[in-house]
Amino acid sequence: MCGIVGYIGSNPTLDFLIEGLKKLEYRGYDSSGIVVFMEKPYLKKCQGKILKLEKTLIEKELKLAQVGLGHTRWATHGAPNTVNSHPHVSNSGELYVVHNGIIENYESIKSVLIKKGYHFKSETDTEVLVNLIEEVKKTENVKLGKAVQIALNQVIGAFAVCFLDVNNPNEIVVAKLGSPLVIGIENNNFYIGSDPSPFIRYTNRCLYLGDNEMAILNKKEGLTLRSLQTDNILKPKLENLKLELEQVEKGGFKHFMLKEIFEQPKNIKDALRGRILTRPNRIKISSIEENITKMAKSNRLIFIACGSSWHASLLGEYYFEELARIPVEVEYASEFRYRNPIIKEGDIIVPLSQSGETADTLAAIKMAKEFNPFLFGICNVVGSSIARETDSGVYIHAGPEIGVASTKAFTCQAIILLMLSLDLGYRTGKLEGLKYNLIIDELVKIHQKVEQLFKESKKIEHIAKKYQNSRNFLYLGRGLNFPIALEGALKLKEISYIHAEGYPAAEMKHGPIALIDKDMPVVVIATEKGKYHKILSNVMEIKSRGGKVIAILSQGDEDIRRIADDFIEIPNADELVSPILANIPLQLLAYHIAELKGCEIDQPRNLAKSVTVE
Ligand code: F6R
Repeated sequence: MCGIVGYIGSNPTLDFLIEGLKKLEYRGYDSSGIVVFMEKPYLKKCQGKILKLEKTLIEKELKLAQVGLGHTRWATHGAPNTVNSHPHVSNSGELYVVHNGIIENYESIKSVLIKKGYHFKSETDTEVLVNLIEEVKKTENVKLGKAVQIALNQVIGAFAVCFLDVNNPNEIVVAKLGSPLVIGIENNNFYIGSDPSPFIRYTNRCLYLGDNEMAILNKKEGLTLRSLQTDNILKPKLENLKLELEQVEKGGFKHFMLKEIFEQPKNIKDALRGRILTRPNRIKISSIEENITKMAKSNRLIFIACGSSWHASLLGEYYFEELARIPVEVEYASEFRYRNPIIKEGDIIVPLSQSGETADTLAAIKMAKEFNPFLFGICNVVGSSIARETDSGVYIHAGPEIGVASTKAFTCQAIILLMLSLDLGYRTGKLEGLKYNLIIDELVKIHQKVEQLFKESKKIEHIAKKYQNSRNFLYLGRGLNFPIALEGALKLKEISYIHAEGYPAAEMKHGPIALIDKDMPVVVIATEKGKYHKILSNVMEIKSRGGKVIAILSQGDEDIRRIADDFIEIPNADELVSPILANIPLQLLAYHIAELKGCEIDQPRNLAKSVTVE
């Protein structure tokens, strides 16, 4: 986790650093800090958010500095206090560093350095790293860049790092392995970010640093890219970003999460754009076309993911088994990576991730690679590590998701999974044309149905008021609505801190029914027509034990509507599509409850957007 920014060039940097850190606060917000250089270094750090840090920046000269580093932290090693905040400084006071990632062998390096006389103020792995570089620089008598290259070959772990040497404030040295780092370039002005959002107002020309690469950014000599392993000079591949500034701003909404919920009709259209042709209906996904032989022959798909992406993968399981008739397994990446899984020829591994940086998913990919399977990634963030580590794949095109709770990315993941399974099923002759055409017709209309269900917003706010003080919630769904129950419960717990659990509705009788009383709201997703009577019986069971039912229903439902305490209607849709719609009122319900409780919706406590540590 953690967000890092840096700048070197001919413009004042303070505003860039602070505004850039605010853009990256979704990556962690336990503490923050900056260092800028103006004849001498000014180091400012504090526990808590960037706004608090900003208030400490009172010296006028800070405004003039043209080189600096900044950091927003999600604590891994050491408590989230000021001492443990970045930037960290070496014992001599000459080297500064900001770091995103984790140095796994820091303790052994630390004990060697302590024997050499180094002392440490913080409990962090990063302070060890900067002192290791100082030691290498001294003993090898080399410049910062060479010291970084030598030292980083001695560390085990993940890093995106930026270093500044006060003896040479014309230069910043950056390096990457595992954690993301991108450099925005405008002549000899260099903007560094964990993602491009801090610098898109200044430039759209950028270089995504690859794993095991380092760059020396010199305001006079320009950028030099080198291999960390061989020290050879590499040719930088510059890219032009398509990101717009408005995509990373709140646009009048109180929270990013709310903006992202209401953005979904547009995101859905973006996810489908160019991939669905109508009259005659056809799905055109180049990565499927290119790999159709492998896909058609595959024995099994193994999804690996975490959190909401894992829930989307569960939907994928239903879709692929139903439409493409391929067996699917859905694995928690964190479990899979430590098992001794059986991966056979013909198995396709499908990592699914919004950020494309989740450490467990990345580690599971690396482990799976030992079996040499075909890896088909599904990611949101373009150019992310998971996108690069996989053989082929598809982007979901949800645009930047900044609220920590995933909303639009989940919806676009579901849309893409449905589209992929339809395409594969049809191309391999497992799916007949009638169903194929019907679902394509549904997919092209789905954004309108999402717009339509936003008309229920006021009602959802009212329901949120009624249940805001409940301490526990149960979410129930059958079939395709089971992953939606899990996702609805996750949204509520992560942003409102109310305990919530998702269950397959029929499992209620096997335990959770014991919890039901008048204080336990049960959200029942009851849109599956095929099993309507079964879910109706579940609702009766809850009501007869005094439970409160909030039902998510299809328009025109009569029976459950009559007995539920509250209900939210979603537009009628095919059973493969309705779960995607049913999820959206649950996002709004969680949002409004959290808002009424005064929670920090975009940055819930203890969480961070991309979990780049184990
Ligand atoms: C929940 C949430 C997390 C992520 C999980 C995986 O709202 O955002 O559970 O889904 O950390 O992240 P990605 O999809 O980036 O791999």
